[in-house]
Amino acid sequence: MTIDFRVLAAAGAFAAAGFPAFAQTDIKIGYALAPDSHYGVAASKFEEVLKAETGDQFNVVHFPSSGLGGEREVIEGLQIGTVEATIVSSGTLANFVSETGVFDIPFLFRDLDHARAVLDGPIGQDILAKFDNVGLHGLAWGEQGFRHITNNRNAIHTPADVEGLKIRTMENPVHLAAFNAMGAAPTPMAWPEVISSLQQGVIDGQENPLSVIVSVKLNEVQKYLTLSGHVYSPAMLLVSKPFWEGLDDTQKAAFEKAAKEAVVAMRAYVDNVEKTGVETLKERGMEVNALSADEKAEFQSSIQSAYEGYYETYGKDFVDSIVNFK
Ligand code: PAF
Repeated sequence: MTIDFRVLAAAGAFAAAGFPAFAQTDIKIGYALAPDSHYGVAASKFEEVLKAETGDQFNVVHFPSSGLGGEREVIEGLQIGTVEATIVSSGTLANFVSETGVFDIPFLFRDLDHARAVLDGPIGQDILAKFDNVGLHGLAWGEQGFRHITNNRNAIHTPADVEGLKIRTMENPVHLAAFNAMGAAPTPMAWPEVISSLQQGVIDGQENPLSVIVSVKLNEVQKYLTLSGHVYSPAMLLVSKPFWEGLDDTQKAAFEKAAKEAVVAMRAYVDNVEKTGVETLKERGMEVNALSADEKAEFQSSIQSAYEGYYETYGKDFVDSIVNFK
């Protein structure tokens, strides 16, 4: 789809005096997961704070569980102004702002604190600001946690165990390169197709953080969970740029405050599920193993060829500046 951002900008400028306080404006917010997931909790906090700040000016209408389609479709809806807001993973974000893909590099972040510090610091905020050039406005970085592999074929300890494994990846070239380098057989796929593809055996496995595995009940369609923590999974709260440009400064400040608090709620949810999720999934019958430090190192060295590509795309110095960020 070709989008003329000059037309969208003109539409935004036309409405630049802000949405009138007397008329209620609907804000459709789409996200891929259920209302009781980390996305649902964040969207509800967003609504609560926005209401507290602006009264009845905005009516937040939730479309959970991919009710507006896959993440890429929803983001395109924001660009053309048919959807106002979304919370998405970094899955397809690099297709809109290529620099975002740097955060999808496996084994980049030491832990959640490291990732949060980078995303909230100058590197993350510079990349967030680039969404204004593509018909979007990034309000804040959120997160899902570290991604782990689930599958129905076998327990995973070494790269040999993923050899030829039909694993669904997000539509994300950085992830795809890593799974190809490991020797798996990755299939990029939009999220709404994943559960039925697992049920039908079109794919053997998928990878997602505990937040997703628990809230989607992936245990119902997957036997093995390997705590690989192979990559951090950022999320983003985005609004439509044409919509954003129609807000006045007070309204913009309210949206920013609501987004900040939504992210605090999302991260608190992730902190909790990182502590409790493994037990929950064991109770639900999954066979769980955690990669030891040596096993993790083996996976990391299996993707050296993918790293060469990452350095070429993002620059080794830039990647190192993230790895070494304190
Ligand atoms: O795997 C994905 O596509 C994402 O992690 C998901 C589940 C849609 C959440 O954003």
